[in-house]
Amino acid sequence: MNLQAETEFHTQNYSKKTFLADVLEGLKSSPKKLHSKYFYDEAGDKLFQQIMDMPEYYLTNCEVDIFKNKTEQLAKIILTDNEPFDLIELGAGDALKSGYLLEYLTKENIDFTYMPIDISGHILEVLDEKFRRDLPNLEIKTLEGEYFDMLDKAMSISQKRKVVLFLGGNIGNMYLEESHHFCRELRRKLNRGDILLIGFDLKKNPHTILNAYNDAAGITSSFNLNLLIRMNRELEADFDVLNFQHYQTYNPLSGECRSFLVSLTEQNVHIGNQAFHFEENELIDMEISQKFSQDDISRLAKDAKFHIIDEVTDSKNWFVDSIWQVF
Ligand code: AVJ
Repeated sequence: MNLQAETEFHTQNYSKKTFLADVLEGLKSSPKKLHSKYFYDEAGDKLFQQIMDMPEYYLTNCEVDIFKNKTEQLAKIILTDNEPFDLIELGAGDALKSGYLLEYLTKENIDFTYMPIDISGHILEVLDEKFRRDLPNLEIKTLEGEYFDMLDKAMSISQKRKVVLFLGGNIGNMYLEESHHFCRELRRKLNRGDILLIGFDLKKNPHTILNAYNDAAGITSSFNLNLLIRMNRELEADFDVLNFQHYQTYNPLSGECRSFLVSLTEQNVHIGNQAFHFEENELIDMEISQKFSQDDISRLAKDAKFHIIDEVTDSKNWFVDSIWQVF
């Protein structure tokens, strides 16, 4: 095995081990739960692309509105003091939104390295290929793995001021308590002058929110069920997807939008040689997509000791990119 193949083999093996360990722990808990970060295998990436194209899923359109139509405003904010910087993106995906900013910055001949972090190696390949073709002058270093592991790596590569993007409402995939913890951890890793740009999906008419996750075509349902298919393939599990049904909720008081899979019968499912029993109507807790008020955002920034220096919203005021700095 050459060095690169060997490294890939070990990371693959490692991530498969943690995937299995996380799944086993989640299914032994009560209620049973799985982590939505595992939604994104190749089929999951494609389903999420389809979600972004759905009429009901407004989040992407809102943030595209911001990045496409308010690019210069965003650039001015992050270029504060004209100090050199590197741009890190947590959960970059296909960089649909940040692409507008990257295009603007490269056209302005601004010297920086773009370091997209994602748990999906597949989507990083797609992204890398896209930018090599469309923005050949962009310096890019893709980092495949968990946010904080790869952030540490990015911090060791770059000595410049950091601008960290965390877009798409990805922070919504944490419970409010976890997001507070996450922002405090992020603050600890950053230095004075560093900037964090976070996208929050705002609380709004509850019907609008529920519809975005309970789409008529059932794509969100397939997105959730796909994790069972992934487990069948990668972890030698034997889920019958026809025995599970997607159920979505939104609680406008807490801002929690949550998805579950309901077991349609009493059944046993195996993962390798371990058996898991499901009662009829037993749930698997799958995903949270937390929605925020402006107060929730202020509390989050303050608690993590960031200063909110600016914010940019879409034309409907449904989504906000909040810009925080370490002072
Ligand atoms: C990629 C986490 C922003 O929670 O809105 C979309 C994922 N889940 N539909 C979200 C998702 C169901 C999405 N994020």
